[in-house]
Order: sequence, then structure tokens, then C-alpha cells
Amino acid sequence: MGLNTTALNKLQVFKGEHFLKTCDFSAEELNTLIDFTGELKEKKKRGIPHPYLKGKNLALLFEKPSTRTRSAFSVAAYDLGAYPEYFGQGDIHLGVKESTADTAKVLGRMYDGIEFRGYHQKDIESLAKNANVPVWNGLTNEWHPTQMIADFFTLKENWGTLEGKTLTYVGDARNNVAHDLLITGAILGVNVHIAAPKSLQPDEAIQKLAKDYAAQSQSEILITDDVNQAIYQTDAIYTDVWLSMGEDQSVLETRINELLPYQVNESMLLNTMNPEAIVLHCLPAFHDLNTEVGQQIYEKYGLSEMEITDDVFQGEHSVIFDQAENRLHSIKAIMSVTLGDIF
Ligand code: CP
Ligand code: NVA
Repeated sequence: MGLNTTALNKLQVFKGEHFLKTCDFSAEELNTLIDFTGELKEKKKRGIPHPYLKGKNLALLFEKPSTRTRSAFSVAAYDLGAYPEYFGQGDIHLGVKESTADTAKVLGRMYDGIEFRGYHQKDIESLAKNANVPVWNGLTNEWHPTQMIADFFTLKENWGTLEGKTLTYVGDARNNVAHDLLITGAILGVNVHIAAPKSLQPDEAIQKLAKDYAAQSQSEILITDDVNQAIYQTDAIYTDVWLSMGEDQSVLETRINELLPYQVNESMLLNTMNPEAIVLHCLPAFHDLNTEVGQQIYEKYGLSEMEITDDVFQGEHSVIFDQAENRLHSIKAIMSVTLGDIF
């Protein structure tokens, strides 16, 4: 077990860097991070201590709610020997009485690393520019890069390799997760298919960037509204919520009508013609009526499941909870290589 010295040396490039978006890094760098995630997962399972951030203080800033990202950053911090401090919306002056730049300068003098989940990528870019310590992106409207390391690690864990494999995203393909899967997959050389109605297909600029990366990595990009074409013989199906955090609730009814044909269900899984296809979702998911929002949607639109049916969510193709667990190991890897001493 364990990365060899050459692989560890490759991780040195992350030292002192921010982790704001995956396209700041090369395929080789991202692959080393994915492999280091596996090493840290193994260490945790075997009870081998890995206090790479011993004595460090970390600020975790959340403008939006979070279960997985918050938990992963907190538990990863404790496992690495660091002290996390959580700041929720309204807890500090950030953006209200104090500029992002001033807040960054102050936090950077007290903390050794800063996580930020919020609305605008420009805010995290400003934090990174002014903090003088590594800043990690816990999700913005534009990107979700720590999710990407967990996701591509989960794919590799199941497939054995990323090479020559196809990932198909179905649903709202203009959101942070869809854009990031498209770009990160193209960088890593994974074929990325997207099935979405024309109105919800990725931004033009993102499509172009993905195609440029795919030309370099020799992967295939397919963006279509034909769901059967996109999923045929795919190795994985991935979906996300139909309305992301911060979006206007008034578009929900239109979204439901546009996206119902893209719901991940048993018939979609059968149509892949690949009995080995796996199913991913970054979570939280609307797959039953056991949530307040799910209940409200049922009362208003009569829908008991949204982007994924409960049978598929709970079924044998789903690796969704492994994927959720892998957020811990991947975030630990990201914090260790940017801030810790892994030698
Ligand atoms: N996938 C994800 O980011 O989950 P949380 O919103 O719970 O952090
Ligand atoms: N697209 C979703 C992802 C949640 C992890 C959102 O931004 O709300």
C-alpha cells in the first residue's frame, strides 16, 4: 500500500496552492490527487494515523447549507490533527459589513487554511488573492471541485481505471456539478456524455473549453437532448437536483416539465444495455417523500420522485453512499497536499 516516491514528489506541486477549480491543474496532477485519496481511505480503514496538519487552525465558511462538505472538512481536519472552526451564514461580517478582501486578510493572519462555500466564484478568488493561506472551494454557483475528486475517485474505485470509460450526466446540465463533471472528465480523458433539454445544456463557453481539453486527452464529448443516445453502453449515469441552491423557486414547474424525461429510473438503466453501469448522485437527492421539500412538491405537482427514482437510488447499481463517504477522503487529500507535510 502507499504511493511511491515519484507519486509523492508529484504531489509537491500542490504545496501552498489554493484549490479553487479543477481546471487549474493538469490531468497528471488530478490523477495523483485521486490516487492519494485512495491511500488516505486505506489509512483510515486500517486505523493508521495520518496527522499531516497537526496543530493547524482551519476556518470553514458556509454561505449555503451543507451536510457532506461541512462534515467532510470537519472530520478530515480532526483526523489530520487540525482544529476546524465553522462559520455559517450571518456569523461573520463577510460581505455585509466587511469586504471579502478585508475578511481574507484577517482570517489569513489567524488561520492556516480557509474553506469557502458560497455563491460567486469571484468571492472565493478574492479570498484566495488576499488570504495568504490555502483556500479550498467547498462549492460555488460555478464549480464544485472537491466533489470532483471524490467522484472521479469513486468511478476509478469501481471501474478499476478511468481510461476509455464513459460517464453520462442527465438532468440540469447548466449547474455547477454538470459543468465541473464535463470539464474534469475531459481533462482526465473520460468520455463525457450529457443528456439534457436544449434549454438546460452546458454554457457555450464551458462546452468549448471541454472540447479543447477532450482534444488533448483524446476523450469524447457528446451533448444531446436524446437521452437514449447519451446513455447507450455508458459505464455510469450521474444526476443532480433539478433546482440548485440559490436558484429562483419560480422556475421549478418549468424545470419539472423539461426534466421529467431525464429522470434516472429502471427503464433508463435497462436502456444503457450495460448490466455493469453504476449510478452516482452528489446528494442531497429527491427520491422519495421523506423530506419537507419532497412533500411540498408532491402536494403541488403530484410527483413522489424527482431526478432519480427510489428503486434506482437504493438499488444494486447505486454507489451513491460510497461516493458520499469519499468526500471525506478526497477533502483530506486536498487539504494535506496544499497545507500539510505528507513526507
Ligand atoms: N454533495 C454536497 O456538496 O453535499 P452537501 O451540500 O451536503 O455538502
Ligand atoms: N447543484 C447542486 C449541488 C449540491 C451539492 C447545488 O448547487 O445546489
